[in-house]
Amino acid sequence: MEPLPSFPEDFLWGTATAAYQIEGAVREDGRGVSTWDTFCAQPGRVRDGHTGETACDHYHRYREDVALMAELGLNAYRFSVAWTRIQADGRGPANAKGLDFYDRLVDELAAHGITPFLTLYHWDLPQALEDEGGWLNRDTAYRFAEYAGHVHARLGDRVAHWTTLNEPFVQMAYGYAMGVHAPGQALLMEALPAAHHLLLAHGLGVQTLREAGASHVALTNNLTPVRAESDSDGDRAAAAAYDALHNRLFLDPVFRGRYPDMSAYGVAEMPGVRDGDLELIAAPLDSLGVNYYNPTRIAAPEEGPDALLPFVDVGITGVPRTAFDWPVVPSGLTELLVGLRDSYSDALPPIHITENGCSYDDEVGPDGTVNDPDRIAYLDGHIRAIAAARDAGVDVRGYLVWSLLDNFEWAEGYHQRFGIVHVDFATQRRTPKRSAEWYRDAITEMRGKSLKRR
Ligand code: FCB
Repeated sequence: MEPLPSFPEDFLWGTATAAYQIEGAVREDGRGVSTWDTFCAQPGRVRDGHTGETACDHYHRYREDVALMAELGLNAYRFSVAWTRIQADGRGPANAKGLDFYDRLVDELAAHGITPFLTLYHWDLPQALEDEGGWLNRDTAYRFAEYAGHVHARLGDRVAHWTTLNEPFVQMAYGYAMGVHAPGQALLMEALPAAHHLLLAHGLGVQTLREAGASHVALTNNLTPVRAESDSDGDRAAAAAYDALHNRLFLDPVFRGRYPDMSAYGVAEMPGVRDGDLELIAAPLDSLGVNYYNPTRIAAPEEGPDALLPFVDVGITGVPRTAFDWPVVPSGLTELLVGLRDSYSDALPPIHITENGCSYDDEVGPDGTVNDPDRIAYLDGHIRAIAAARDAGVDVRGYLVWSLLDNFEWAEGYHQRFGIVHVDFATQRRTPKRSAEWYRDAITEMRGKSLKRR
C-alpha cells in the first residue's frame, strides 16, 4: 500500500458511539422510557426482535471501554447522552444519578487524555414527549433546550465539544416519513414539520449552550454527495430534488438562514416556521459534524410528475459493498467535502468527520482474532479521501470511526457489526479486530509524520 498521508499533530483520531446503541441498563438510576424502548417492544419493528436493553452493557463497562480506546492511541471519543437518564419524561429538574454516569465517563476519558465530543440527541426521545407529538410538536424544541442546559450545567466545566443533534435528516426521514425507525410514523412529506422542529431545537440548544459559556458548538448531519444517473434534464432535476431533501434542508437554514427550494415536493413554504426561527437556526457554529457512508445515485421517476416522490434512488453499482449492502466509495467523501466548501464557502466552519465506517459479518476465528481486511481497506480509503480534501483546502480537523464497538444497529438489531472492537453479545467479551490494530498503527504513523515535518 502507498504510505499513509500526513495529518497535523493536533488532528483528532477517535471513534463514535450512541447511548441507546451501547449503554443497556435501560431501567437503572431513574432512566425513563424512550421512543426506542417503545419501538423495540413492538413486534416486527426490529429484526429478530432485538432490543437495546443490554446492548454492550457499556453503562457498567465504560471503564474497560475507555481503557480500550487508550490502548488504541485514540485521542477523541464521540458519545451521546440519553435524554431519559437526565429527564425521565423529557421535562423538569435533572436526575442527578443520570448525570453521574456521564460525569464518571467524562472523568475516565480525561484520565486517559481522550477529548470528549458530547452529542445531546442521538434519536432516543423521551416517550412522554412523543406522546405529545414528538418532533411534530414545536414544544419539543423548547424541551430540548432545557435538557441541554441541564447537561451543560453538570459537564460544561470538562466537556469542550458540544453537538446538539445527530442526523436530523435520518430522524425525520426514517422516524417520521418512512416509519422504519422510532417512533415508526410513515407520514411521507407530512413529516416536514419534524425537520423544522429539529432545526429549531438545534438553534435553541445553541442559544442555551452559548449563554452557559460553551465555546465549541456543532451540529452533526448525515450527508451524501448526490449523483444524477445521466445528464438528462429529468435526472438532473431529480438529483437536485434529492439533494435538497437529504442535504440542503439541514444545511441551508444553518449556513444561509433560509430553507432550500422544496417546490419539487409540492411544498411552497416550509411548514411551522415563525418569525425569528431562522435567525436562531443560523447562529454561527464552531464546527460541522459530517457523517459519511456513501454517495447516492438518483434518476427521474418513471411515472413522471405523477410519482409520489420526485426522484428514484437507483443505487451505485460496480463497487465493493458492506454487509449492509452499502456501496464503498471513498472518493465520495472528498467529493462531499469539497462540494460543501464550494457551496457554503466562508459560512462553512471547520469540519469533523463524526461518523464513517462499515459493517461486515465479523467472527472471532479459532486463533481468537477477528480478521477484517475489508474494514481496513475501508478506513484506509476514507482517511486518504480526507487527506485529499484537506489538500484541496477543506479544513477537516478530526476523524471518528463508526464505531468503537459492535452494537445495536437500530432496525437491524445486532446483525450489522460496525465496531473496530468485536463484541460477543452472550458474554460481553470485547476483542479488538485487526482493523483496530491497523487504526492504532496508522495513527502512530500519521502523527509521526507530522512530527517529522516540523
Ligand atoms: C448512522 C447513525 C449511527 C449508526 C450508523 C451506522 O446513521 O448515526 O447511529 O447507526 O448510521
